[in-house]
Amino acid sequence: MAKVVGGIFTSHVPAIGGAIARKREGDPYWKPFFDGFVPVRRWLEAAKPDVAIVFSNDHGLNFFLDTMPTFAVGAASEYRNEDEGWGLPVYSAFSGDQALSWHVIEHLVRDEFDIATCQRMLVDHAVSIPFELCWPGGRPQGLRIVPIAINTVQHPLPSPKRCLALGRAVGAALRTWEGPEKIVVFGTGGLSHQLEGERAGFINRDYDRFCMDYLASDPDALTRHSALDIVELAGSQGVEILNWIAARGALGDCATELSRNYHIPISNTAAATMLLEAGDAVATARAVSLEAVV
Ligand SMILES: [Fe+2]
Repeated sequence: MAKVVGGIFTSHVPAIGGAIARKREGDPYWKPFFDGFVPVRRWLEAAKPDVAIVFSNDHGLNFFLDTMPTFAVGAASEYRNEDEGWGLPVYSAFSGDQALSWHVIEHLVRDEFDIATCQRMLVDHAVSIPFELCWPGGRPQGLRIVPIAINTVQHPLPSPKRCLALGRAVGAALRTWEGPEKIVVFGTGGLSHQLEGERAGFINRDYDRFCMDYLASDPDALTRHSALDIVELAGSQGVEILNWIAARGALGDCATELSRNYHIPISNTAAATMLLEAGDAVATARAVSLEAVV
């Protein structure tokens, strides 16, 4: 059976792609952010996932304000990367996993999620930048993705509770997939930031810390605020935390925080990176040591 091994949660600010392209990762401005990926890359080298499920939001590449699905699941054989006008390098196409996509879609519809299914889908910086951060210079050959787009742009937005439920349903589908794949989950975007209006530049360290503190141990705590509450708390683009909440749901009941990094600012954003392993690492270690004793 397939196994969900862990989750990677990261900001996807377009400027990160510019820093990678110009090889500025070691600059004083960028280093504190890129350092957060050292443990993530080490973990990925050991985990060697076959598939990545990516929860992110589209920034106008597929969907604009006139046609905005609340949840859209990719079911394509490949996903071309396109630049939305930031001048970022365009990366090679991402391979899809159509069979797994349809398995997830069937499961979600059976669970009464009214999703859009996309047999053609482009991916923007919300997908390409996290992959460049995790696998500098090129992702592993054979890695396949299933992108899931959540509307964090056009109100009304889905509630955090609904996003967590979506992620849990995706996780349940993955755990019934009979293939041998190791699956990593991505949640991209955030944390607090607002790009426009009187509150442009708004950042809320307290709310960000609350999200990071509860993400692994009690993700339901993040659903105590409505989507509009989160706009107030985290800024109009800070609602991208919805992607993190859904991705956390897919990890299952137990998750263990392995690393976290929080740095202000990257562009106008509080940038964060977290690595969670699926399951209770303490319990696993205890079981292993007991086995050794027995
Ligand atoms: Fe974004």
